[in-house]
Amino acid sequence: MSDLIACLPGDGIGPEVLDQAVRVLEQLPLDVRVVRLPFGGAAIDETGEPLPPETLEACRSARAVLLGAVGGPSWDGSDVRPEAGLLALRKALDVYANLRPATQGDVDLLIVRELIGGLYFGERGVRADGTVFDTCEYHPTQVERIARRGFELAAARRGSLVSVDKANVLDTSRLWRRVVGELAPAYPGVELRHALVDSFALELVTNAADVDVVVTENMFGDILSDVAAAVAGGLGLAASASLGDGGAGIFEPVHGSAPDIAGTGRANPTAMLRSLSLMLEHAFDRPELARDVAAAVDDALGSQPTPDVGGSATTTEFGDAVLASLEQRLAVAR
Ligand code: NAD
Ligand code: IPM
Ligand code: MN
Repeated sequence: MSDLIACLPGDGIGPEVLDQAVRVLEQLPLDVRVVRLPFGGAAIDETGEPLPPETLEACRSARAVLLGAVGGPSWDGSDVRPEAGLLALRKALDVYANLRPATQGDVDLLIVRELIGGLYFGERGVRADGTVFDTCEYHPTQVERIARRGFELAAARRGSLVSVDKANVLDTSRLWRRVVGELAPAYPGVELRHALVDSFALELVTNAADVDVVVTENMFGDILSDVAAAVAGGLGLAASASLGDGGAGIFEPVHGSAPDIAGTGRANPTAMLRSLSLMLEHAFDRPELARDVAAAVDDALGSQPTPDVGGSATTTEFGDAVLASLEQRLAVAR
């Protein structure tokens, strides 16, 4: 199995938070090779495309992809967008299951977002009269494989699954609801409930502690995961793992390139470091290291919080605190 970790810093605060993850990686007793590759807007500037062939090749041959963030105002008007590289990479690696946990206080939920279908990948274009369209498409097999993930993950947690759709309006949602419903008898340990996305958004804001696992389509999952992040301490804390059936997964924060704070040293690397922890768990099967990293990050949140969570530490100072705590934890484990 590959020992390569493909690191894609990207744009804005992407490289700033990824640097902290690489520092932590280098401290871990893990025999891996780390390579940094151009991606996103930085790759557009360098090569003209957001996902250069060498970057894609390295990701395909890697054990895991660790990704900062892409996008920013400098590319907002351009024909080729950084975000297109991210979507192409997700598609190429067939990482259809995007796990977005949100935990804080009595909130402990997991959003399971379908990642390579729906509005993001349906037919799009411009009609002769100037109308622009994006279409939402789902094949039953696409729904089935993500729904199974949702059931399996719920079975391993508190046994409660909410499937979120807009079945009162959309045909794709009616398909979604039917396919998810038909799978339920195969998972007797899981209690399934269906919810409409608008009122579920309200439920997330008002009652997130009662939510266990959420399974939903691509666009709803994108929006609801930022809501869940807000409920659980902010975007600076929210991590994700994008998984397929074997092959390299992508581990990246839920947040973007945060152009408003890029270059100021104010970025919170927690979301990135928690994504690293998810990588240790899912791609390297090292749950003990994953727990050590997560615990060291929690320590740093207590001792050296960044401005977004009420402190004044810089990104690097936060990283220093994580390394110090991790060193102690690893010494105890030895
Ligand atoms: P954003 O997530 O970048 O930022 C939203 C707000 O959260 C900003 O105020 C930002 O300062 C704050 N924030 C985000 N991450 C933070 C962190 N780690 N520490 C402290 N504060 C943090 O969303 P946006 O501003 O809507 O998007 C900016 C760009 O990022 C866009 O080009 C968008 O397409 C892109 N984007 C990329 C990804 C990705 O690469 N996975 C995800 C979302 C958005
Ligand atoms: C995310 C981001 C991406 C998405 C964008 C940048 C393509 O918002 O990972 O949540 O919408 O999936
Ligand atoms: Mn998003």
